[in-house]
Amino acid sequence: MNKLKKIAASALALALLAGCGSSSTSAATSAAASEGSESVAEETTTEETSAEAKTYNVGVAIYQFNDNFMTLYRNEIEAYFKTLETDTVKYNVQIVDGANDMAKQSEQVDAFITQGMDVIILNLVQTSSADAIIDKVVSAGIPLVLINREPLGDNGDESYAGILDNPTVCYVGADARQSGTYQGEIVAELPDHGDINGDGKVSYIMIEGDPENPDAQYRTQFSVKALEDAGITVECLSDQVGNWDQVKGQEICANALTQYGDAIEVVFCNNDAMALGAAAAISAAGRTVGEDIYLLGVDALDECVEMVNNGEMTGTVLNDANGQSHTAVDVAVKLLNGEAIENYYWVDYVKVTKQ
Ligand code: BGC
Repeated sequence: MNKLKKIAASALALALLAGCGSSSTSAATSAAASEGSESVAEETTTEETSAEAKTYNVGVAIYQFNDNFMTLYRNEIEAYFKTLETDTVKYNVQIVDGANDMAKQSEQVDAFITQGMDVIILNLVQTSSADAIIDKVVSAGIPLVLINREPLGDNGDESYAGILDNPTVCYVGADARQSGTYQGEIVAELPDHGDINGDGKVSYIMIEGDPENPDAQYRTQFSVKALEDAGITVECLSDQVGNWDQVKGQEICANALTQYGDAIEVVFCNNDAMALGAAAAISAAGRTVGEDIYLLGVDALDECVEMVNNGEMTGTVLNDANGQSHTAVDVAVKLLNGEAIENYYWVDYVKVTKQ
């Protein structure tokens, strides 16, 4: 976006922000007030109070409903908005499924714009489309909270111009480098440091999420880096894309176990859904987590935390869906109130090992 357009868009955004709540539900009938009788005056007072009630329209676009982690996340967005409602402020939250299709999601955002949403919360299908989407939402004067899939700046860091340059656009997420580092550290901290067969190196397979997602890139990179930083020699036997999906995670792990057998000491999965699949493949292959193989995920889904405590998984990392969804909603509310916001909001990951 050129500078002039940007300034105009920002001004428009602020003007619209100031006018947020134009979608008020109840209108007081001022005609009644002019009649002057006591009972009418009383009625008018009540109606004036309710005239202040506002309903904000919130559009939430999720990259795909069929995703364990994003399901927790979106349910919590909805639940948390409900807790913030008062007699005078309501949130009409509409959540749509992008079905992992960027063209479809782009149309959904167009529909949000046409419907005049007061704020949009967006979990992009493809971060490479961030600019196009940010431009159209900002031009429509609607504030935008990006979540979960971080568009990276030219240097591969969090200095994305479309976010930095727009006062009504921000990103809420967790630093995926941290989650990768925690996965690697969990292995490095094991008594055998992941080297089950004692051959002086940790032989692992990596099951990756959607490669366009920085969470997948960083987790892959930083899990291995943490091992190397701990002075451990590593050997990558296989690195494949499971697209965050449990069934794909199971297939990839089963094939790798057939191909590499006992040579596999560690299975790194970029998320818990794929780790659940890998766990099934591991037990089908007659291997035992914690004895002859280690298994790591990210997210800390309830069933995975249970598996960690049972020893069926070596560890996972809490990807705080509650913390992130609450932050996203809190920021959306700030935007609705016309308050200034930061460009980025970060929620910490937490290591999860057997308690
Ligand atoms: C989560 C994955 C999820 C992905 C969706 C990641 O942060 O760890 O489980 O599939 O986000 O973008």
